[in-house]
Amino acid sequence: MCGIVGYIGEQQASPIILEGLKKLEYRGYDSAGIASLDNGSSVIRRSQGKLVNLENILRDQPLTGKVGIGHTRWATHGKPSEINAHPHKAGSIIIVHNGIIENYLQLKDQLKQLGHTFKSETDTEVIAHLIEESLKTEADFEQAVRTSLLQLRGAYAVCILNDKEPGVLIAAKLGSPMVVGLGEKEFFVASDIPAILAYTREMVFMEDGEFVIFRSGTAVFSTIAGNSIDKKARHIDWSPMMAEKGGFRHFMLKEIHEQPRAVRDTIAGRLLELDGDVYLENLQFSDRQLAAVKRIIIIACGTSWHAALVGKFYIEGLCRIPVEVDIASEFRYRNPVVDENTLAIVISQSGETADTLAALREAKSRGALNIAICNVVDSSIARESSGVIYTHAGPEIGVASTKAFVTQLTALYLFTIRLGRANCTIDVLHGQRMIAALKKIPGLIEEALRLNDKVEKIAKKYMNARDFLYLGRGKNFPIALEGALKLKEISYIHAEGYPAGEMKHGPIALIDENVPVVVLVPKGNSYEKTISNMEEVITRGGRVIAVCSTGDEEVKKRAETTIEIPNLDEDLDPLLLSVPLQLLSYHISVLKGTDVDQPRNLAKSVTVE
Ligand code: G6P
Repeated sequence: MCGIVGYIGEQQASPIILEGLKKLEYRGYDSAGIASLDNGSSVIRRSQGKLVNLENILRDQPLTGKVGIGHTRWATHGKPSEINAHPHKAGSIIIVHNGIIENYLQLKDQLKQLGHTFKSETDTEVIAHLIEESLKTEADFEQAVRTSLLQLRGAYAVCILNDKEPGVLIAAKLGSPMVVGLGEKEFFVASDIPAILAYTREMVFMEDGEFVIFRSGTAVFSTIAGNSIDKKARHIDWSPMMAEKGGFRHFMLKEIHEQPRAVRDTIAGRLLELDGDVYLENLQFSDRQLAAVKRIIIIACGTSWHAALVGKFYIEGLCRIPVEVDIASEFRYRNPVVDENTLAIVISQSGETADTLAALREAKSRGALNIAICNVVDSSIARESSGVIYTHAGPEIGVASTKAFVTQLTALYLFTIRLGRANCTIDVLHGQRMIAALKKIPGLIEEALRLNDKVEKIAKKYMNARDFLYLGRGKNFPIALEGALKLKEISYIHAEGYPAGEMKHGPIALIDENVPVVVLVPKGNSYEKTISNMEEVITRGGRVIAVCSTGDEEVKKRAETTIEIPNLDEDLDPLLLSVPLQLLSYHISVLKGTDVDQPRNLAKSVTVE
């Protein structure tokens, strides 16, 4: 998830682009760059780190020119560095890109054979070389771009310049967001509205497979293949604050709604469908190394620890390797049993949590093979582990983790497939079935998000409760924990998650007509047992909010309130169940008037012990 901005018109491009990038910093901030074209030659300024570094460079060495493109990066392919920062250039072609090109390695090999040399590790640079190559055979720049884009698989929003065509800017989109702003004799392109809202409120929203060329004061829209289309502008009357949050009231709600995209990005380019296997680009352990793993320990804090608990079910259930799960602050002080046959997996959204980092170091010092599941590229934990599976959630700003959690589950599921294929506990057919199910998840999360209004009404009904219980069994028990944590974190209501079968050993004493009990009861292995636990609550006067599979009349008959989620595959239920629970805490918090995005006493990244 990166941010791009383009400008063409009668003003100096660079200051406009820089201001736009500032508004997009929420999309990524590990490096940034701007290119502008003046008198037929382009100049590129780039810098590692936050945008302020680029701003300082531009203050000393300003860019001139009335057409330009800029980028703020959230690394996916290639670590954060100046070399990997956008814009990228090949020959006369300059490009910025947001998205992931899935077939870039294959294209890169072909281009290398044709004599192209690459400076960066990015997938983006491949596009620039591809256009440069196409220019040798195509009639013109526009056609060369079209031909090249049609060869890409994956997702992109791109802005492209050509030194040899100083009055032209091209942009196109497939799978990544893009909006075009219409001004007085000037045009703007951006990943998101806030970047250009200060300059125009007339916006054209680009759809997948669309292309626009700006030249001589005109914008001509077409499909990438070249068929002309008619695009209408919309007037946007959002306030700047609303725009920053994509029209949502809070970052948390925005991030909840980004989950289909986040899961899609986390699986993009990693599925080897025919082999029933996955490719994890930063995890280059051999099958033999993985098959030799006799024991796994997963270590994390907070929400990431809940993901770890689900991971235990995946790995033990499918790869038949014993898995322990530990809280990082406990692991490091308890003289753990770890040796060379142990694989330590640390999970951290930020990659900077002090206890998790220390636990990783502890496991390494005891000889464990180790990998990290991280969201922030090149974070301390990502750098120090021997292998890393990045979740491609994009920056998470709301303190209460949502999209990072769901992508951590996705990464664990991907790793389970890889490990199971390596140690032969998952055969090709089984791997193919798992992949097919995983591919359906983004669409089903979209379906679950349609529950938003219904969950808001439910929130109104239960918002005044002092305590909540969350019950689940098996791999849904960690989701009960996560649901309770979300509620505590942002609404300050006391909530506890419990394995449903354990309720009779204590929490049942708390149940009365004032305690809402959220029961996770989708169809599956532990369905009937969970129904019995639900009955135990009901007979004691408890008010049940059941989260069940769509169309489950049995549950609907019994529970006071039901939330129905799509039914797909038991193993993937945790991803779908998470969505209504996030929405429930969100709406209760809004109704209570607490600070949703920055709840009291909490920090997004805990870098102290
Ligand atoms: C803090 C955050 C949580 C997060 C936890 C672990 O408590 O508020 O949302 O789950 O740290 O963070 P990590 O970055 O290691 O996943």
